[in-house]
Order: sequence, then structure tokens, then C-alpha cells
Amino acid sequence: MRMLVDYIELNLPQSLKNHINRTCKIGKELSKLHKVDLNKVTIALLGHDLYRAYNDQELLEEAYKNKIYISKIEKISPILLHGKLASIKMKKKFKIIDNEILHSVKWHTSGHKNMSKVFKVVFLSDKIDPEKIKKSKDLCPINEMAYINLDQAILMYLNYNIKFRINQNELIHPYTIQARNSLQKEITKL
Ligand SMILES: [Fe+2]
Ligand SMILES: [Fe+2]
Repeated sequence: MRMLVDYIELNLPQSLKNHINRTCKIGKELSKLHKVDLNKVTIALLGHDLYRAYNDQELLEEAYKNKIYISKIEKISPILLHGKLASIKMKKKFKIIDNEILHSVKWHTSGHKNMSKVFKVVFLSDKIDPEKIKKSKDLCPINEMAYINLDQAILMYLNYNIKFRINQNELIHPYTIQARNSLQKEITKL
């Protein structure tokens, strides 16, 4: 973890470092409350945005370099690649082999139909960064729910995100829909 912390300190812009620090703080609170492995959550949150400051061209170049599959929606919105690239860097450079961590990092933007408790805490800690809540008051009830019920909070977030994208005439990542349907089924026991 030391190597990862040093890398962040040396390479990431200050605003991103601040975001990562805030998510780690939230991750700690949520992990304790929901009895989730804090070590895994912290490593995932430290690494989740290693590529967040890259521009579209840099993201595509890194993706080609690492020979990773680029889906149609990622071609249109290369920012969606930043989780995939971060998970690769964590594995190759920082020798993190835990699949729960790598999976949480890889799909932290879209969500995924298979979400462990570690994934859920990582996902929410990123979305309820106080700076994000300041920009969108719709995140307030999601923030409150995160401290009560992880599944409900994620379902609320995914519903909010899907509605927001429809209103903005934006594309929706297919994994976001899958994640939402899988949670909805689980919660209503369909
Ligand atoms: Fe991110
Ligand atoms: Fe983030």
C-alpha cells in the first residue's frame, strides 16, 4: 500500500488527491458500520482514480498499449476506461492480486451486476464525496441511505444516474442497467 500512496503523492493532481482522501475517509466510516474489510476498501479507493486526470486521447492510448478490449460506449466516452486502466496498473505495478479489490476498481464508474460488499462500499464512497453532493443536492438522500442500507443506497444512486443521463440525452453504460436490475430484483425478491 505504501508504494501506491507514494505514487499518488507524486503523480496525481492535488484536486484528485483531495477527492481520493475524502473517499478513503467515507470508506472507513462505511466499512466499520457495515462490517466490511477496511483494508480492501482502502486499497481500492486509493487506486480507483489513478487515471481520472487523463484526457480522452491519453486514455485511449493507454488502453491500446495495454491491449484491453474497448467497448462501443468506451470509444465514444473514453473516460469510462479509467477504472479498467486503474485495475490493470494496480495489478501490474502495485502487485495487487485480490480480485474483489480489482473488480471494484475496474467497474467503479458504471457499477456491475455482481457487487460484493467491498464493491458496494467502494462504489458509494466515491459517489457521496461531499464535493459531489455540493454540486447535486439529489445525492443527499443517497448519502443518508449509505449509512443505513448499502443496497438501497446503490439502487437509489443508479436510478438517479440513469434518469439524469436520460434527461441529458446521454448514453447509459449497459453495466449500469445490469447493476440496477440485479439490485432491484434482489431487493424486491423477483
Ligand atoms: Fe472514477
Ligand atoms: Fe472517484
